[in-house]
Amino acid sequence: MNNIADIRKEYTKGALEPKSMGDNPLLEFQGWFQQAIDSQVLESNAMVLGTVNAAGKPSSRVVLLKEITAEGIVFFTNYASRKGQELAENPFVSAVFFWPELERQVRVEGQVRKVSEADSDAYFYSRPRISQAGAVVSNQSQVIPDRETLDAQMAVLMADESIKIERPKHWGGYEIVIDGMEFWQGRPGRVHDRARYQKIDGAWVKTRLSP
Ligand SMILES: Cc1cc2nc3c(=O)[nH]c(=O)nc-3n(C[C@H](O)[C@H](O)[C@H](O)COP(=O)(O)O)c2cc1C
Repeated sequence: MNNIADIRKEYTKGALEPKSMGDNPLLEFQGWFQQAIDSQVLESNAMVLGTVNAAGKPSSRVVLLKEITAEGIVFFTNYASRKGQELAENPFVSAVFFWPELERQVRVEGQVRKVSEADSDAYFYSRPRISQAGAVVSNQSQVIPDRETLDAQMAVLMADESIKIERPKHWGGYEIVIDGMEFWQGRPGRVHDRARYQKIDGAWVKTRLSP
């Protein structure tokens, strides 16, 4: 095995000048996200979502970005899952996108609110039937005895395509209403560029941070 401490990479692909970036970080994010898609970044819409429970203990996991709104970003999940329970206790979250192909990171902070039932329906019914069935059979984050139980429930739901699979009420979207955002571009010698946006008294304030 290689020495882990010897693993290193110089970042040379780009540069970032906060002074020439726009005032609204969500518009900047749209631009960066489009560049990630154009550059065929693997799983470009995957973000690590951090939640904190009532006891102040953090946990994190990957979820998929499904929409960029005027005020934030949307993901879908099971409201009764561990993350759902933690969000019910504490709506403050962080999220991070890492796009290695572009040597970029985007950090997000904000508060979640549930999207409307209509928006959750619209997304749920746009998904392939197998994903709809998966949402129904999964009591996400609960202990289960074995794989076979899941497979048997899936087989029943997949057997008859004429039966509509209803969105479970505990499955839907959260919008992260963003109040802090940071754009990071790797640079040689670890002297990276960082543009930080913070919402203060309803207005975005943009700064450059030391690497
Ligand atoms: C690439 C990737 C994408 C994922 N997308 C989602 C997602 O959009 N929604 C979701 O609930 N879980 C998603 N997961 C699974 C979560 O990481 C996690 O295992 C699950 O939501 C349970 O988390 P919890 O126990 O903290 O609630 C994804 C995992 C990976 C690796």
